[in-house]
Amino acid sequence: MQNKFKFVSAEEAAGYVQHGDVIGFSGFTPAGCPKAVPVAIAKRAESFHAEGKEFKIGMYTGASTGVSVDGALAKADAVLFRTPYQSNKDMRNAINAGKAPYFDLHLSTMAQELRFGFLPKPKFAIIEVCDWNEDGELVLTAGVGISPTIADLADHIILEWNHYHPKELRGFHDIYQPLDPPHRREIPVYKPSDRIGSEILKVDPSKILCIVETNLPDEVSDFAPSDEVTQQIGNNVAAFLAGEIRSGRIPHEFLPVQSGVGNIANALLFSLGKNEDVPPFEMYTEVIQDAVIELMLEGNIKFASGCSLTVTNPVLQKIYKNLDFFRDKLVLRPQEISNNPEMVRRLGLITINTALEADIYGNVNSTHVLGTKMMNGIGGSGDFTRNSFISIFTTPSTAKNGNISSIVPMVSHVDHTEHSVNVLITEYGIADLRKTTPTERAEIIIENCVAPEYKQMLRDYLAISGSSHTPNNLKACFGMHIQLEKTGSMLGTNWDDFK
Ligand code: COA
Repeated sequence: MQNKFKFVSAEEAAGYVQHGDVIGFSGFTPAGCPKAVPVAIAKRAESFHAEGKEFKIGMYTGASTGVSVDGALAKADAVLFRTPYQSNKDMRNAINAGKAPYFDLHLSTMAQELRFGFLPKPKFAIIEVCDWNEDGELVLTAGVGISPTIADLADHIILEWNHYHPKELRGFHDIYQPLDPPHRREIPVYKPSDRIGSEILKVDPSKILCIVETNLPDEVSDFAPSDEVTQQIGNNVAAFLAGEIRSGRIPHEFLPVQSGVGNIANALLFSLGKNEDVPPFEMYTEVIQDAVIELMLEGNIKFASGCSLTVTNPVLQKIYKNLDFFRDKLVLRPQEISNNPEMVRRLGLITINTALEADIYGNVNSTHVLGTKMMNGIGGSGDFTRNSFISIFTTPSTAKNGNISSIVPMVSHVDHTEHSVNVLITEYGIADLRKTTPTERAEIIIENCVAPEYKQMLRDYLAISGSSHTPNNLKACFGMHIQLEKTGSMLGTNWDDFK
């Protein structure tokens, strides 16, 4: 049967895109992102640039993407603006060089901000699918992100039909969009495994401009293997949570866990899951990384609700070979639901996210190196932390071979304030910040969490900081950062230089 959609090459599809167009991309992290059309758009930009013509596009994504979206478009200098989270090295460099205008958003708010016009409407939605029909019923692949919203708002939809993902993924998604204010009702998710929406994304078929067929694997990079430091952080998190269960501050049946993105989060979840003091648990989280799947196969994780399967390809293949095992253990939701503060508070999530740096008063910087250079973005860390039952931040006590102390007198940028951060954990120990004054907090953090080579430096900072409610010395509070900029190391900071 002749079907009504046009099948074209990636280059032909990219040919529809003009300078200045705004595009929404499917997926969340590299999972579920289109891979052929964005590369072709980048090539189109390069050929325009070679002729001395302008060609840049506005970019909306669910979160970070792979090399084919952020990598290709940043390298082609084709970025008019970019939001929200990103983690590709070329995009990060372009942002920090001022070549890719970037603004950072909480991931849970992105869809609503698009719907209400806080952000310009996308002209195109480019969506990766593993199946579709002529009524506009799409089966998404390994990530959901903002696909429902961009499909509704865009004038045109370009589908990448990626045969790498099996059609049998149908049933793993739960597509639900809340009503907008003032008509919004509660989102009826009462436990992580509740399904409230549809297994397909229904779009207006008249908007489907064309279909590009591909067979391309996801572009999730390998996670760093766990090492002594991340294992010890994981053991400390487990010890803290086991103590909370024993004391009755966490119900004995335990609570759903959210775990952040990146190497550290992946490694520490392994240690947490394998710890005998922590009962098998459920997750209500944003990214489902490798550790979740491995722990699920071993019975340590019972269920995971997330926005994406951000897993390496060998792990994705394990899922695809065992779809029947995973079918009742995984659900993928739009980020508006996976990260929704209403659910985070109602379900009572234990949230575990990673800090780039924290200060002695418990403020956390997740995003900016030396307060100026964007690393990745706030992602979902704010959505979860602020609304959690208990919020935990973890970080190795030092970075860059010990030249940076992750704990400093004052963070150089604040993403999570002292009011939202309950517990700080490094490989050296646990700082439980609940019911502590700022001075008590500083003492607990320095004594329990700071690396030995930086302890005395931070005690000495306190000694020159007076005795007000939150002791600080405004001349010296960035002394360790200044020393790092000057010498490449925070070691050797001398407070006399800041008197
Ligand atoms: N100053 C400068 N650089 C630092 C640093 C500091 N205080 N602390 C860490 N770094 C560097 C590391 O050395 C590493 O550099 P490299 O890539 O050159 O090796 C880099 O930051 C990433 O650190 P890594 O140890 O690999 O951690 P990660 O992969 O676990 O990522 C975050 C950590 C904070 C960047 C990451 O978790 C993130 O983007 N968080 C914000 C969003 C978020 O929390 N989302 C979760 C919600 S579900």
